[in-house]
Amino acid sequence: MNNIIFSSLPSTNDYIKDNYKSLKDRDVIIALSQTKGRGRFDRVWESKDDLTFSILFVDSKKYHHMIAPIAVVYALCEFNIDATIKWPNDIYVEGRKLGGILIEVINDKYTIVGIGINLSEKTNYVSSFVKVDRNMLLEKIEEKYEAVLKYNSNELLTSYKKLSYTLNKNVNYNGKIYRIADYTLSGEIIIQSDDEKLCINANEIDIKSCLVR
Ligand code: BTN
Repeated sequence: MNNIIFSSLPSTNDYIKDNYKSLKDRDVIIALSQTKGRGRFDRVWESKDDLTFSILFVDSKKYHHMIAPIAVVYALCEFNIDATIKWPNDIYVEGRKLGGILIEVINDKYTIVGIGINLSEKTNYVSSFVKVDRNMLLEKIEEKYEAVLKYNSNELLTSYKKLSYTLNKNVNYNGKIYRIADYTLSGEIIIQSDDEKLCINANEIDIKSCLVR
């Protein structure tokens, strides 16, 4: 991967959106600070002194929503941080969010994988001991990403499930309790009750507000 570093950008995803024609496959846009970072569901992603970057893939590979969180969790593991994936692709440590991933596709050909990891005192609510060098973590995520890109679909699904925070947890969906029973490769969850099995898309449900503790 080819790193391009900026001291400040509104959003690394937006930078790629505006410049993808002049960028190359696997260019990585890194912003030391981001002023208008975006999250899923149009949420604001605040960051300062965190790790915020976006990778451009010029490919038709469909599984970045699985590859990205697996790579991040594997990378954190190298720093002895026990992270898990909260479906669809939040990074959880000690049951709290440490990082998020925003994937956007342009013209079915360009995929932007935006990754934000809360490393600074201000944004890291997880624990004061989650202290990792930003550059070393970035390097490790890139290394793991390259490795996970080579996984076949079976390996991807197995790894994703093994690292999952949400698998087998209960959710309240439209007033009814279901168990999260499985995931599909295309990114849906399968939820199951005694008498019903549903396949739900990540845009249809905000899992955080539905999880039953
Ligand atoms: C989420 O949890 O909702 C996803 C957050 C994704 C944030 C990252 S930070 C780098 C990249 N640039 C953005 O504007 N967003 C993503």
